[in-house]
Amino acid sequence: MLFQLFRTAVFLFKGHFEFTNRSFVEKSKHWLPLEFPNEKKVILVTGGNAGLGKATVEQCIEIFQRSNKPQQQMELHVLCRSEQKGKEAIQEFEHQIGNTTSIKIHLHICDLMQPKWIEQFTNNFMQQTEQLDVLINNAGALFHERKETPDGLEATFATNSLSTFLLTTKLLPLLRKNKTQENPARVINISSGGAYTVKLEPIDVQLQKQEFNNSLFYSQTKRQQIVMAAYWAKKYEKDPVRFYSMHPGWCETPGFMSSLPEMYNLYKNRVRTAKQGIDTVCWLALSDEPLEQNGKFFFDRQVTPEHATLCRTQETPEDVEIFMSTMNKWL
Ligand SMILES: NC(=O)c1ccc[n+]([C@@H]2O[C@H](COP(=O)([O-])OP(=O)(O)OC[C@H]3O[C@@H](n4cnc5c(N)ncnc54)[C@H](OP(=O)(O)O)[C@@H]3O)[C@@H](O)[C@H]2O)c1
Repeated sequence: MLFQLFRTAVFLFKGHFEFTNRSFVEKSKHWLPLEFPNEKKVILVTGGNAGLGKATVEQCIEIFQRSNKPQQQMELHVLCRSEQKGKEAIQEFEHQIGNTTSIKIHLHICDLMQPKWIEQFTNNFMQQTEQLDVLINNAGALFHERKETPDGLEATFATNSLSTFLLTTKLLPLLRKNKTQENPARVINISSGGAYTVKLEPIDVQLQKQEFNNSLFYSQTKRQQIVMAAYWAKKYEKDPVRFYSMHPGWCETPGFMSSLPEMYNLYKNRVRTAKQGIDTVCWLALSDEPLEQNGKFFFDRQVTPEHATLCRTQETPEDVEIFMSTMNKWL
């Protein structure tokens, strides 16, 4: 308990100096604007109707329109659970796209906390789509109380972590298709600095034996997303796919405001905009710079440590194997 408080204090200290708007503004002074490659890219963003997912779609469109190269084409697939919210977001994206005919946008409806929906979505998607270059596992939630999905899964785990595992694993054949080591597909897990507060729990992956604690349950799923990216990078190292995890810092989104209102109120004058938060997502998706850093955890366009100093959150290789074989049972 006391040690958990120490980890949280380290996270808050780190966050205060690194995860806010000010540090982004300082660091980004030295960055070049992102360029869209001179070819076709097909990008799937989960949770694309709000917050960081929506900002990612908007930023991809902005980068595309700014780059304006002859061969460039973009197909955006936006996955949402609410048809109404999805349609409203698509309308806004279409307005932004205007008469740029080389951008196509599609809406998909899928409740990611339900593995059967993921199965159905991935089967349809693989039949309908010939190419997938970037999968952005963004959709996520932090619940105020313990909640079960219709299948009896713990909801934080099902939404944030199991969906990342199932979507990525099921879409892997499509991600690999027609790719090369020079021009690989990319999977980006949007994790969180909250992962610094927890160690991987390899067996009780849904924390069913633990008393509910919203931040710690959320943080455990965010740790799991980091572990998965690193594991896949090793397991599929010969495949033309790169796996990354990243954290966006503390960003102004509907999710942050509603799930952690006290913390949001404390930091509301210092949080990042959603656009700042997803800069590294777009960089991982479109730039050649991170290609040699397969499996790493990123923050502000740089590899960042997966564990905070003195927090003793390092997992063992055995823990990772046990965790991944536990996850495999849901395939
Ligand atoms: N904001 C931050 O400061 C921050 C910091 C660290 C990490 N992150 C991570 O960034 C990601 C996005 O967070 P955010 O702040 O943008 O949250 P947000 O504003 O709540 O947006 C989350 C998105 O995910 C969707 N979603 C949630 N549950 C879903 C489900 N079961 N099936 C399909 N879609 C679902 C939401 O759909 P609805 O609109 O229908 O709910 C929404 O589109 C999350 O993974 C979060 O952990 C955020």
